[in-house]
Amino acid sequence: MKQTDTVTPIIIDTDPGIDDAVAIAIALYDPTLDVKLISTVAGNVGLDATTLNAEKLMTYFDKNVPIARGAAEPLIRQFEDASDIHGKTGMEGFDFPEPRKDLLLKENSVDAMRHVLMSSDKPITLVTIGPLTNVALLLKTYPEVKSHISEIVMMGGSVTRGNKGVMAEFNIYVDPEAAKIVLKSGIHVTMATLDAGMGTAIPPEETARMDDMGKVGHMAHDLFQRYRKRSFGTGLKMYDPCAIACILQPDLFTMQDAFVDVETAGELTAGCTVIDLKGYLHKEPNATVTTGVDSQRFCEWFMKAIERCD
Ligand code: BDR
Ligand code: CA
Repeated sequence: MKQTDTVTPIIIDTDPGIDDAVAIAIALYDPTLDVKLISTVAGNVGLDATTLNAEKLMTYFDKNVPIARGAAEPLIRQFEDASDIHGKTGMEGFDFPEPRKDLLLKENSVDAMRHVLMSSDKPITLVTIGPLTNVALLLKTYPEVKSHISEIVMMGGSVTRGNKGVMAEFNIYVDPEAAKIVLKSGIHVTMATLDAGMGTAIPPEETARMDDMGKVGHMAHDLFQRYRKRSFGTGLKMYDPCAIACILQPDLFTMQDAFVDVETAGELTAGCTVIDLKGYLHKEPNATVTTGVDSQRFCEWFMKAIERCD
């Protein structure tokens, strides 16, 4: 049990996913974070696979964090996955042991998140590293949870360009209506954007070193051989670990408060985050947005974080 006065309690909503797997590991092994619940969502691959992957990770890490199954589809849109990036199972490349089945709750993720939030004696940080479907459903179904959430730290959105189409970042693209609900909820959001993530490429010589860094390093090393195959030589971008770094080491990033909304109607731009850095819209900021990252220091932080996972 971690010391409660010095730790930040978090819930991770996720679609594992290779970079999710690494982000979850860093959070689980960090002594200043207490992961209360893993909530799964359809994203990188379908919900059955992301939930199974969460079970595989907890089993391999030998951690007892409960897992709750969330939404299998976006609120309105047709589901599109990212199996081209993460492989058919979402975590191709590593031979995980047979997963335990006892960590999967009977409650769905919306009820499980409500339960954890309402029974916590201090507010909880909600970390989202997948599409925002579960969180939107939670906030609409049980608005009373809002005062129990200290903030939402999301990997999602982009200041400049997209990675799923021209303008949209994947996690927002999959369920833009959900992202809009979350950004309009009144809860402060810290956004680890695609722009920051693009500066977090871990070069192949560092990836090679991970193989000898204990079981998490070994897992990451093997998964990375299959992740974003085309960019292995130039460095693998650690998008989801950025969300964890925003909590543990925020000074790695340049950040700015801004009003953020999501384009849901655009013929060419649906899923694009509109980030008003210049104040054109005269709206109060609802988010703190990462606009860049110190790439060298991020890489050092990341490698140390992986090394400490044991
Ligand atoms: C996001 O999309 C997913 O493929 C990654 O896991 C990350 O959450 C990056 O756009
Ligand atoms: Ca993810």
